[in-house]
Amino acid sequence: MNILLIGSGGREHALALALKRSGDDIQIYANPGNPGIFTYAEYADFDIKDFDAIAKYCKKSKIDLVVIGPEQFLSDGLADVLRAQKIDVFGPSQEASRLESSKVFSKEFMITNNIPTAKYKSFNQKEKKEAIKYLNTCSMPIVIKADGLAAGKGVIVADTLEVAEATINSMFDGKFGKAGSSIIIEEFMVGEEASILAITDGTDYITLAPSQDHKRIFENDKGPNTGGMGVYAPAPVVDNIVLEKVQKEIIEPTLEACKKMGHPFIGCLYVGLMINNNEPKVVEFNVRFGDPETEAVLPLVEGNFAGLLKSAAKGKMKKDLIELNTEHSTCTVILASEGYPGEFEKGFEIDGIIAAEKKGAFVYHSGTAMVDDKLVTNGGRVLAVTCVGEDLQTAIKHVYQRVEKINFKNKYYRKDIGKKGLKYYY
Ligand code: AMP
Ligand code: GLY
Repeated sequence: MNILLIGSGGREHALALALKRSGDDIQIYANPGNPGIFTYAEYADFDIKDFDAIAKYCKKSKIDLVVIGPEQFLSDGLADVLRAQKIDVFGPSQEASRLESSKVFSKEFMITNNIPTAKYKSFNQKEKKEAIKYLNTCSMPIVIKADGLAAGKGVIVADTLEVAEATINSMFDGKFGKAGSSIIIEEFMVGEEASILAITDGTDYITLAPSQDHKRIFENDKGPNTGGMGVYAPAPVVDNIVLEKVQKEIIEPTLEACKKMGHPFIGCLYVGLMINNNEPKVVEFNVRFGDPETEAVLPLVEGNFAGLLKSAAKGKMKKDLIELNTEHSTCTVILASEGYPGEFEKGFEIDGIIAAEKKGAFVYHSGTAMVDDKLVTNGGRVLAVTCVGEDLQTAIKHVYQRVEKINFKNKYYRKDIGKKGLKYYY
């Protein structure tokens, strides 16, 4: 099977490895790719901004399946362009992608379909006065969100009215560009967060191991939000009772409603949850695999993952092509560049990956580049290191041993990934 993989992060590296492990006949082509992905894939030579050129490439190279990683391509309609050319794609249409690309749309969708989520109000730029007035009726903390895509950074949890007001002003003043031309003011939910990835053909679905991301930059969930600093799976906060509620009250009505709108959701539906007293509510939907959730969850998938995605793309998912490993846990730690999610330097040489991998870890590239035959840092999140263990404690212990073996200047990582999960076991 010839697979075209779109994307260049740790998520796509994890996807590349899982696809490659699906069988001997898998050939992967990638764009933009990264040095890690290119250990399993060949470069697919086309201009990624030109969707017609991508479709042409797929025809010429006899691509059997396209897997789209990042939300931007989905929200820009890449899946639609390819499907119109009868190319099998794993990833939702532009319309279905609005579940992620517009928070205003996503909240309206949830309320209309009785999907549990936080109370909210939305405002556009012309309604700034009303937004501030409404804010003055809210209790703190309060959550302010830019409507559009903002790389995980368009959400501010404000503890005081002053911070909330300043946030609204900066969003309407263009801090997030067009993404902030509408905003949401949302009730703060207490509880514990978890993520669930559902692979779906639009009707049928399979949920992968529930996981827990760590979005804040500093230990004990302090500091600004990032794209994600580490994950463990399975997250015990999602027990079987919670999982069943998520399936019945969230995933099934969502897929049903997408179908009814004429935009069946084919791809990976990411459900970001807040769980309080065993009651799950949606924090956000994403319309693609999570990053870094994918790096922690895919090592627990066995079998023909490529076949699963291909069958979903064809509209009739063959769930028995994979088996979920429920006997092990994983822990993923992100190695970042000091300064992220603010400013940081890049271009520092990375060493120790082979030493870390030798000891049974997966080291996924997130922000790396090859310069003069040397691997260097090239992003805020540089590497995602995952270990599998017979239980969470073992996975955590192993991953931190491996993390020590990898070195680059300005390496920063959180030392408490997975700790929140341990309280359920000990
Ligand atoms: P989002 O991009 O919508 O997932 O928001 C990023 C992060 O902000 C989430 O992972 C939560 O930690 C936090 N957050 C978002 N919305 C809420 C909310 N209503 N209540 C509490 N925390 C929230
Ligand atoms: N881990 C959060 C995301 O993928 O958006």
